[in-house]
Amino acid sequence: MKNPFTPTKFDTDKIQLGFMEEYKRILAPLTYRPISLLEIGVNKGGSILFWDDYLQNKDSRILGLDLKLPEIETSSRVSLAQCDQNDADGLRGLAELHGPFDVIIDDASHQLAETRTCFNTLQPFLKPGGYYVIEDWAMGYFATDYPQYQGMVEFVTEIVRNAKELNLAAIKIICEKQKSMAFFQKGSR
Ligand SMILES: C[S@@+](CC[C@H](N)C(=O)[O-])C[C@H]1O[C@@H](n2cnc3c(N)ncnc32)[C@H](O)[C@@H]1O
Repeated sequence: MKNPFTPTKFDTDKIQLGFMEEYKRILAPLTYRPISLLEIGVNKGGSILFWDDYLQNKDSRILGLDLKLPEIETSSRVSLAQCDQNDADGLRGLAELHGPFDVIIDDASHQLAETRTCFNTLQPFLKPGGYYVIEDWAMGYFATDYPQYQGMVEFVTEIVRNAKELNLAAIKIICEKQKSMAFFQKGSR
């Protein structure tokens, strides 16, 4: 069987930086199930095309959101929509249309206001047992000379602190120089 996590034709740095190895942990049991995955931050579409290749169930659905969309060819399982992750009404409308989701990945601005709006708006649209992932949350942790990322460490800490109120069943925080990811799994109720 092919290993879908080896470097491939997909134009996304998630593979080289080791993010996909982390996704394997949550996605492996879901590969053959009909799941709904939302990724905010499409860029050239590399990761969206990767998910489309990786998820094996014909009824799985992938939604990608970005400020600007690339012109890419996808299968009919993929929808792309223009949306600012700081636009709560826009996000809610799309989530009502396409959700609820098994996996939500925020790989967009990595900035506080946007990340917070996106999390607060979309996490109610996670299915029980589903995962909300914030990528690159520690950009400001290692690079304190980038003021645009200030507050992200505190925001992730705040989510961890409010785990009970947010009904989080499991949390995994990765904080390495080139790889920071925060996985929040919703409880089963
Ligand atoms: C790191 S790239 C995404 C990479 C892609 N997920 C991949 O792995 O190939 C970040 C993307 O976030 C988008 N972005 C930045 N700010 C945004 C915002 N406020 N709302 C929506 N998308 C945003 C950018 O346009 C850019 O395409």
